[in-house]
Amino acid sequence: MSVPIFDPTGLEPRSATDELRAESPLARTPDGTWVVLRHAEAVRVAEDAENFSSAVSRFLQVPNGRDGAEHAAMRTATDPFFGPTEMARLAPRLRRVAAVLVDELLDGVGPEGTEVDAVAALGAVFAVRAQTSWLGWPAALETELLDWMVANHEASRSGDLARTAAVAERFDAIIRSVLAPRRSAGAEAPEDPTTALLRLEVELPDPAVPGSARRPLREEEIVSILRNWTGGDLGSIALCAGVLLMGLSRAPELVERVRDGSEAEAGAIVDELPRIDDPFVANRRVATCPVTLAGRRIAAGERVMLHWTSINRDELVVPAPDAVDPEANATANLVYGTGPHVCPGRPLATLELVTLLRELLAVAEVRPSDTPGEREVAAVGGWAHAPVVLVPRRR
Ligand code: HEM
Repeated sequence: MSVPIFDPTGLEPRSATDELRAESPLARTPDGTWVVLRHAEAVRVAEDAENFSSAVSRFLQVPNGRDGAEHAAMRTATDPFFGPTEMARLAPRLRRVAAVLVDELLDGVGPEGTEVDAVAALGAVFAVRAQTSWLGWPAALETELLDWMVANHEASRSGDLARTAAVAERFDAIIRSVLAPRRSAGAEAPEDPTTALLRLEVELPDPAVPGSARRPLREEEIVSILRNWTGGDLGSIALCAGVLLMGLSRAPELVERVRDGSEAEAGAIVDELPRIDDPFVANRRVATCPVTLAGRRIAAGERVMLHWTSINRDELVVPAPDAVDPEANATANLVYGTGPHVCPGRPLATLELVTLLRELLAVAEVRPSDTPGEREVAAVGGWAHAPVVLVPRRR
């Protein structure tokens, strides 16, 4: 069968891939990138970092763009930032952040309710406040970060590398503005994850110290890690909030389970709705040697895209991709990826999203709005604008 040709940029990612996936596990873009559309092939690629390298960008990306021992050392050093103790310590702060935001949105709202955009007014604002609170950054950065999210989104949509580089530069300046005072404060710097990163050592030899086995992180590595922890993921959290609220506004039975069920049940629903409509569309790899995938020969150096939105809707593992069934679909769920590059931030993302939903649903009903939502187009997915009506609950 010939490989279908399509350009994933600028298309609604589900409709762009649902039909292609039925024909073949792989598609090919006009520029020759192989697009992995099905679950089994995605697992094969994501778990085989030797044949499918993540070193796809000309910019330093830690840990995303690293491979092998260096990647493993970076993950070993940084994964504990998302450990259970850290998350338990953060949980009450996130509850406060969510409660304050929900209060602001419902302030003075009568029984007729108020329309909000679940992406911009709820998800993005919450994501920025939650991340700055977690990292110990000044609350005054909120507006700057929200402006940056918009600029970043527009730059990725434009596909213009110079614009993307300028936006990345702008973000690096924000990061350096929070690092500099900590460096000058030395031992007096506040105890938070940002300061902990400055003090972190990785199990990698220091070229400047012969025979060494460990070294501190370099400035550019710290900046890159913080860029990944904030820059990329603020947008994912905001878009997930849109997908979740649009879904919940149309499914009151799920609202009850999120509001009154266990944390685990709420977490399972928070995983399942983005499985159906995954806004974190894709990650890239490059083949390190000739390799056969789904009967196709991929040459060394050819680009491969893991299309998570399609992969998560693969009928071979999820027979009814649009049906909400968190328990049955949990093992097929690859919203956070798999293999050595699997998302380290998943515990934080889940905690943030569950906290936001539970704080909101405790005090408000979420209803569909008459204003139609606007879909996103690739490189991201989900909703660009997700209008829902919040109605204060009588208590
Ligand atoms: C709903 C929100 C999120 C989604 C859907 C998501 C999804 C993903 C996926 C699919 C990957 C795998 C990438 C690959 O295989 O190349 C990934 C990697 C990553 N995620 Fe997330 N993520 C989210 C939130 C977060 C958060 C909150 C953080 C940190 C604060 C984070 C940090 C990272 C990092 C650093 C990587 C790269 C890991 C590596 O290459 O070893 N993510 N994420």
